[in-house]
Amino acid sequence: MRALTQDSYGLDALAVRDVPEPLPAKGQVLVRVNAAGVNPYDWHFAAGQPMIARPMMGGLGGPRPQVRGADLSGVVAAVGPGVTAFAPGDEVFGFGAAGTFAERAVANATRIAHRPVDLTHIEAAALPMAAVTALQFLRAAGLTAGQRVMITGAGGGIGHFAVQIAAAWGAHVTGVCSTRNVAMVRELGASDVIDYTREDVTAGEPRFDVVFTNAGRYPLRALGRVVVPGGLVLTNDGSKAGLFGSMPDLLAAPLVSRFRPYRAMSVSASENAEDLAALARMVDGGVLLPIVSATYPLDRAVEAIRQVAGAGHARGKLVVTLS
Ligand SMILES: NC(=O)c1ccc[n+]([C@@H]2O[C@H](COP(=O)([O-])OP(=O)(O)OC[C@H]3O[C@@H](n4cnc5c(N)ncnc54)[C@H](OP(=O)(O)O)[C@@H]3O)[C@@H](O)[C@H]2O)c1
Repeated sequence: MRALTQDSYGLDALAVRDVPEPLPAKGQVLVRVNAAGVNPYDWHFAAGQPMIARPMMGGLGGPRPQVRGADLSGVVAAVGPGVTAFAPGDEVFGFGAAGTFAERAVANATRIAHRPVDLTHIEAAALPMAAVTALQFLRAAGLTAGQRVMITGAGGGIGHFAVQIAAAWGAHVTGVCSTRNVAMVRELGASDVIDYTREDVTAGEPRFDVVFTNAGRYPLRALGRVVVPGGLVLTNDGSKAGLFGSMPDLLAAPLVSRFRPYRAMSVSASENAEDLAALARMVDGGVLLPIVSATYPLDRAVEAIRQVAGAGHARGKLVVTLS
């Protein structure tokens, strides 16, 4: 089968090659992939960024698995031993276990769910990592109706889902994005929008109960200025490259905030079927819709990864199509 693979770090090492079709192990399914969402995660692994994380990406020589891609939407082709929740022919979306920019991919049955009926494979493939991350951050914040939340990167993958989820929960949402995304972010449910190319996001009175920062590389201290005493900064901007990348910012935030009048925390998103199903219910209920701004055939998947590298400017989600 054809897959986007690499045997060493660097986007130039990526190429579409013929590789053996994976076999579903115990608890796994084999999925015929129709579409696969693109995430900064794919850039982190492809480029080996930040470099300090390479041992956790598979080693110093190159990333493992060699096939890129984490999200998928497709049709179950076979099930491994012990799988009872899915059968061949089921339409599923979720997280692959060993790369999804491929014609076939294996996935743990505990990390996929049935595809929302109203979504195409391309739309469903946009959901897993970005929407699960948005959901888990906002849940960890304990966001409630009536609270004021500011979301940076509101026009991007996680941000555009976070705006919709927060608005569905009754929060007052302020989205931060560039000029071209202002109208879209407002349509997604933001009551206010800050165009960061024209206004200083960190200026003004403390007024937000929660700030969820996905982009912009804003210093914690600057974001803290617009958070009310006792409020919360959710740090999720992993866009820096280099030896340590954004890791010091993410790890230090909870410690530093002990000495400040607000709290700060990050969340490492967990891949699970329950949250995928919760998102599918939100889609079915009409409160969540993925925006896919561009699709790329497998041969051009590297272009999509370049779009989400570092401080990228992808609009909504980019999706690789396999069939
Ligand atoms: N904690 C976790 O488990 C977890 C999981 C997944 C991802 N992440 C991290 O989450 C971050 C966001 O991921 P994503 O999928 O949403 O990325 P994305 O789809 O690439 O979106 C990034 C957005 O950032 C905006 N942006 C770029 N420069 C900006 C600036 N100076 N100020 C404000 N916004 C700016 C861009 O919008 P404009 O075009 O409007 O500028 C773009 O839409 C990444 O750094 C990733 O590493 C963490």
